[in-house]
Amino acid sequence: MRKHTTVLLIVINLTSYAFGVEKPTTEQDSCITEECHGEHTSKKIIHDPVSEGSCEACHESVDVKEHTFKLTDEEPGLCMQCHDELSKKYIHGALDDGQCKQCHETHASDNKSRLRAKTVGEMCAECHDVVENATHVHGPTSVNECSLCHEAHESDYENRLTMGPDQLCVFCHVTTKEELEGLEFVHEAVRENCADCHDPHAANNWKMLRAEAPDMCFPCHEEIQTKAQTSKQQHNIVSEQGGCLKCHTPHASSVRHLLASVPTTLCLTCHEEPQGVTINEVLPAFNEIKDKAYLHGPIKEDDCSGCHMTHGSDNFRILAGEYPAEFYTSFDETKYELCFGCHERTLVRTATADALTDFRNGNQNLHFLHVNKERRGRTCRACHQTHASNQPKHIRMSVPYGGWKDLPINFSKTDTGGLCDPGCHLAKGYDRQIPVDYTVKQARRSHEFNGLF
Ligand code: HEC
Ligand code: HEC
Ligand code: HEC
Ligand code: HEC
Ligand code: HEC
Ligand code: HEC
Ligand code: HEC
Ligand code: HEC
Ligand code: HEC
Ligand code: HEC
Ligand code: HEC
Ligand code: HEC
Ligand code: HEC
Repeated sequence: MRKHTTVLLIVINLTSYAFGVEKPTTEQDSCITEECHGEHTSKKIIHDPVSEGSCEACHESVDVKEHTFKLTDEEPGLCMQCHDELSKKYIHGALDDGQCKQCHETHASDNKSRLRAKTVGEMCAECHDVVENATHVHGPTSVNECSLCHEAHESDYENRLTMGPDQLCVFCHVTTKEELEGLEFVHEAVRENCADCHDPHAANNWKMLRAEAPDMCFPCHEEIQTKAQTSKQQHNIVSEQGGCLKCHTPHASSVRHLLASVPTTLCLTCHEEPQGVTINEVLPAFNEIKDKAYLHGPIKEDDCSGCHMTHGSDNFRILAGEYPAEFYTSFDETKYELCFGCHERTLVRTATADALTDFRNGNQNLHFLHVNKERRGRTCRACHQTHASNQPKHIRMSVPYGGWKDLPINFSKTDTGGLCDPGCHLAKGYDRQIPVDYTVKQARRSHEFNGLF
């Protein structure tokens, strides 16, 4: 607080206050008598020097005959004779001019701490309206308990909080505290400052949130906002009202990335049912991984994000890399970036191979044969079921063929090869050690099928 060096002369003519009573013209033993200045001691809470009759601590006689006085100093110097100087880092703006009387009666009052208003909250409300007609008011604010969180004069914490922002809220919110201590993954924002998301006083949103998700989250997560709103393929749910919180918990979680549950469970809360993408397109209910004998590697690890960019991507089905939307497509390695993010791309590069793939007849690379074609190259989904399957190597049980949804493949594996007996060509085997000899002409079923094998 500023040190006041000039003493302001306030000359008080006490006659004007001693209604009808003659002012004394000589020095008195006591200023408080039956007739005089009784109002300074009639209230419940009397300032110590006043009740002790030490008027001279603050008043100094100017002229005894005229009964005029001046203050011994001006506020706050006057008060600091006996009270501690303010010395902490953050001092109330109200004290900039050092006027204690904005809030305190000098001599006596009926209110606690001789405040000029009945409660602390009402005192503060004379200068601050932190509620401003908001619909959701915080418990302590609604009962005017500002001083549970704020020191009236000074504090070492910004906004004169009674304790550090990291302790203040959890002082009362022990359940939240337990969450932060007990769960493995804690949101950094929550560690830093609860008030980034919650207005500590009042707000127009549920739980006194400053804004609703996703708007609440976007300012700190701009990359997610960009992905969610500008990707060619959007997962609409992300940008919807409340979107982020459909998958994430705001404070902490036992699942990484603050997910509300593991992805295999989380995603199915919606995708167990068919979901409309456009008026013309509905995603079928996603029951591909239920009760399957073989789960694809990432799914075994409870991770859908290895392949799907949950917040949005430029690829078909919000995939993490390019992958053809069609069943057949002319070959181009870049079309399979998704799979080759994790698997060897050499798989489809050469017509012959000794080790690159097990899908070989001798050294003939059958991946190359089927996939690497100018016309009607098979995409991986022609033979592999992406998410999970009941056959080894994720070979699918059947493929769709025009209106026929379940053209069977009938795959069986052997130690050194395998055999397919599909609905499109005769059973065909492959063997890596003793290659099946296809130079001998075989009887074929209808060529129009232009079989899978
Ligand atoms: C702690 C300092 C302090 C003490 C002690 C003090 N006063 Fe005052 N008094 C003031 C100040 C400051 C004012 C100027 C008006 C104000 O700020 O309330 C004042 C004003 C007055 C006034 C004129 C305005 C009013 O409120 O009626 C009277 C009369 C008065 N004091 C009488 C007394 C008497 C009598 C005593 C002793 C019993 C006394 N004061 C003790 C600080 C003090
Ligand atoms: C002559 C010494 C003295 C002066 C000058 C003085 N005070 Fe006090 N004040 C006391 C004492 C003693 C107490 C009681 C002990 C305490 O709470 O610190 C007290 C208590 C208070 C309280 C607490 C009341 C309560 O019940 O909690 C307030 C508020 C206060 N003073 C304000 C002021 C203000 C404002 C001034 C300047 C206008 C001032 N004091 C000047 C001595 C003084
Ligand atoms: C903005 C209002 C405000 C101003 C200005 C103010 N006070 Fe206070 N003061 C309070 C409130 C509110 C309390 C009671 C705090 C509580 O009970 O939690 C209080 C309590 C006190 C107390 C008793 C408790 C304590 O903290 O020791 C003293 C002494 C005191 N004030 C002195 C002063 C002095 C001296 C000044 C001027 C330098 C001053 N106050 C200016 C609001 C104010
Ligand atoms: C007489 C008017 C007045 C009263 C009464 C008052 N304040 Fe203030 N308050 C101010 C001024 C002036 C500022 C500084 C300007 C601003 O930030 O609005 C301020 C600022 C603040 C700030 C921001 C931090 C700072 O110090 O700048 C907080 C927090 C605050 N007041 C809380 C309170 C609380 C709690 C009460 C009740 C105990 C209260 N105020 C009573 C005038 C007042
Ligand atoms: C639960 C604790 C809590 C309570 C109760 C509380 N505040 Fe605050 N207040 C805070 C926190 C934390 C901040 C700083 C964060 C921020 O910027 O909103 C703050 C900031 C402020 C500010 C400065 C920034 C602003 O919002 O203008 C003022 C003024 C203020 N409070 C006044 C009050 C008043 C008046 C009351 C009582 C009606 C009150 N507070 C009750 C925690 C609280
Ligand atoms: C002095 C104790 C106290 C402090 C400190 C406190 N709160 Fe509260 N808070 C309460 C009470 C009491 C309620 C109302 C009871 C309830 O709804 O659970 C409440 C309610 C809430 C709610 C709504 C809870 C609900 O389930 O609807 C939120 C959010 C909240 N507080 C956040 C905060 C934040 C953020 C802080 C720190 C700035 C904080 N609180 C500090 C006592 C406190
Ligand atoms: C990133 C924003 C954010 C931060 C930071 C944050 N919260 Fe919350 N909080 C929320 C949201 C959103 C909810 C709404 C409830 C939900 O969906 O689970 C909430 C709900 C609450 C509730 C109501 C009970 C509950 O758990 O649902 C309390 C109490 C609460 N928060 C306290 C706190 C405290 C204390 C802190 C600081 C330790 C804090 N919050 C930090 C976003 C946040
Ligand atoms: C005040 C800034 C802030 C706000 C608001 C905020 N966050 Fe965060 N969030 C962070 C910071 C800082 C990190 C840690 C650095 C990072 O991963 O970007 C983080 C990390 C995360 C993480 C990653 C956790 C991990 O372990 O990978 C998720 C998920 C998250 N936030 C979701 C949300 C959601 C949902 C919201 C809105 C309800 C939100 N955030 C609001 C600052 C914020
Ligand atoms: C449909 C579920 C879902 C929704 C809705 C969702 N997320 Fe996520 N989020 C995830 C999953 C799953 C991860 C794990 C890694 C990944 O896929 O990127 C994640 C990871 C994150 C991460 C940390 C890793 C990273 O990619 O930076 C942040 C931050 C994040 N989300 C923020 C948000 C925000 C903000 C929103 C709302 C705008 C939101 N999320 C909406 C499911 C979701
Ligand atoms: C809250 C409900 C909800 C949750 C949870 C959810 N989704 Fe979705 N998802 C939808 C809806 C609705 C659509 C269709 C509209 C659209 O494309 O956004 C969709 C579409 C999709 C699509 C197809 C996108 C396209 O446009 O082709 C994929 C892939 C997808 N979700 C994967 C996931 C994954 C992976 C998760 C878990 C991390 C998940 N979803 C969690 C509601 C959800
Ligand atoms: C190995 C990569 C991969 C992983 C891991 C993965 N997906 Fe997919 N997902 C795909 C591909 C590729 C498609 C496109 C399906 C198609 O047309 O062949 C797809 C399509 C989808 C669709 C659209 C509906 C459909 O059947 O076409 C949903 C929903 C979906 N995935 C959800 C999930 C969920 C939930 C997880 C985690 C449990 C997950 N995915 C994990 C690659 C993957
Ligand atoms: C995020 C990494 C990742 C992506 C992307 C991915 N896979 Fe996989 N895939 C794996 C893992 C891990 C395994 C398990 C390997 C093991 O068990 O030895 C696996 C196993 C397989 C298997 C069975 C191999 C075996 O030896 O059992 C096939 C077939 C397969 N993936 C095909 C695909 C296809 C087709 C795509 C693209 C649509 C794809 N994968 C995308 C990680 C991935
Ligand atoms: C014509 C059917 C067919 C097509 C199309 C196909 N695969 Fe395969 N794939 C197989 C068979 C059969 C196996 C099992 C080989 C064995 O273990 O005997 C296999 C095995 C695999 C394996 C396990 C490692 C290996 O090479 O033995 C991976 C990884 C794999 N395929 C990825 C892919 C990818 C990526 C695509 C798309 C670019 C694809 N496959 C297209 C039939 C196919």
